[in-house]
Amino acid sequence: MMPPEDSDRYSDIAIALHWLLALALLASFCVGLYMVDLQLSPTRVRLFNWHKWAGMSILALSALRLGWRLRHRPPAAPASMSLWQRRLAEGMHHLLYLMFFVVPITGWAYSSAAGFPVVWFGLIPLPDFVPVDKSLAHFLQGLHSVLAYGLAALTAVHVAAALQHHYIERDSLLLRMVPARGSDPARQPRR
Ligand code: HEM
Ligand code: HEM
Repeated sequence: MMPPEDSDRYSDIAIALHWLLALALLASFCVGLYMVDLQLSPTRVRLFNWHKWAGMSILALSALRLGWRLRHRPPAAPASMSLWQRRLAEGMHHLLYLMFFVVPITGWAYSSAAGFPVVWFGLIPLPDFVPVDKSLAHFLQGLHSVLAYGLAALTAVHVAAALQHHYIERDSLLLRMVPARGSDPARQPRR
């Protein structure tokens, strides 16, 4: 049985992982978009490496986050949310978690298939789990790209839903994912 998450907020660890991963994902997505259009140059090679290292760090942090999440139940949804809204939010969170793994794994597989194995931060060589193969590389390149755009689209819906709760429903949903600041009234649920 998972212990209940304390009160009606996410824990500090869950909040830290949420915002750290949100930033890392946004940066990796923007670098990915930018780097693919560059001419072959030292900058392009450097950005490809940073993109790959950041992506592998996201994969490692996501494993940590999933482990934490499986042991800590999230706070109950605000009472104003109907059953279908709760199911929808749960489904969206599950889908996001799935994407945190498949997007980096397809990028990793693509690098291996293209014959450019990943050496994490230039220090730790990571294993290739697919063979070097031109047509497989082409397929994985497209798949990585489509999945990365899919993750961006899901994130946009997720952010819109969070803002809708805060500004239209005016419930406490967003505040429970924001770091607490003692008894700051701005962190209390708005009426
Ligand atoms: C969650 C993390 C990641 C995100 C959000 C992400 C996102 C992206 C995006 C948006 C592109 C550009 C796609 C396009 O416009 O065609 C891209 C390309 C690329 N990504 Fe990632 N990526 C991630 C992780 C990784 C990882 C872990 C690797 C490899 C270890 C990787 C390797 C690549 C490579 C090699 C390309 C260039 C593909 C090409 O030449 O067209 N990515 N990524
Ligand atoms: C790349 C960006 C983001 C990603 C990938 C992301 C992903 C996630 C995931 C997976 C959860 C579920 C947490 C869990 O139960 O373990 C979550 C929760 C949440 N996120 Fe995000 N998020 C992002 C950005 C944002 C932003 C910008 C906001 C605010 C505008 C936000 C607001 C929230 C809120 C309020 C929750 C809690 C929802 C609830 O209690 O049901 N997120 N997010």
